Amino acid sequence: MTHTQAVVFDLYGTLYDVHSVVQQCNASYPGQGMQISELWRQKQLEYTWLRSLMGQYVPFEQATHDALVYTCRHLKLGLDEPTRAALCNAYLNLSPYPEVPAALQQLNDMGLPLAILSNGSVFSIDSVVRHSGLQKHFAHLLSVERVGVFKPDPRVYTLACQALGLAPPQILFVSSNAWDAAGARHFGFRVCWVNRRGGAFDELGATPHAVAGGLDELPALIGAASQGSPAS
Ligand code: 2OP
Repeated sequence: MTHTQAVVFDLYGTLYDVHSVVQQCNASYPGQGMQISELWRQKQLEYTWLRSLMGQYVPFEQATHDALVYTCRHLKLGLDEPTRAALCNAYLNLSPYPEVPAALQQLNDMGLPLAILSNGSVFSIDSVVRHSGLQKHFAHLLSVERVGVFKPDPRVYTLACQALGLAPPQILFVSSNAWDAAGARHFGFRVCWVNRRGGAFDELGATPHAVAGGLDELPALIGAASQGSPAS
């Protein structure tokens, strides 16, 4: 990862665990929390991609809400107003993965500007980051809202270059979402895929420059690359 001058992170699933909502789901639907959370997340992503293709952008909270409605309908679960509100609210209060705060601090200490580039709206990103107290680590919180289309549309990745004043190869983009990592690689970023679960990378015509098991591996990866190691 040569020439890394800034690090840009995906938010959902990369810095923050989307399955933090399982506990809230279990409270409303005992024993079905993980099944709900997994279908909810899958539909949420599908809705962002489909809305981008249809030219029908809505804020991420709306896609999240719509995906929850579908999920409950598909699983034949009632969804009353207090439950709907509690579950959607849980998405604004996600927990960071355990290694994230210390890794961000280490990257700050290396003097690298950090940013988030997310499909979330300004409101969603701000809520999640502030709730976890991690806002001090980031120079920029960038939402797709400004371009009205979702990742992996290249117009979204351009926002990071504009905000940081850097060319794509100077930016290390970090995502645990393989489709996002592939989109970022096609755009021209240096890319690290965070593969916490030992999953398979998507077949989308692009592979990441590096793979990490968690964010705690990033400082060493970036450090080694700046010293010209073959990992670069
Ligand atoms: C993001 O944070 C949805 O994980 C995706 O942009």
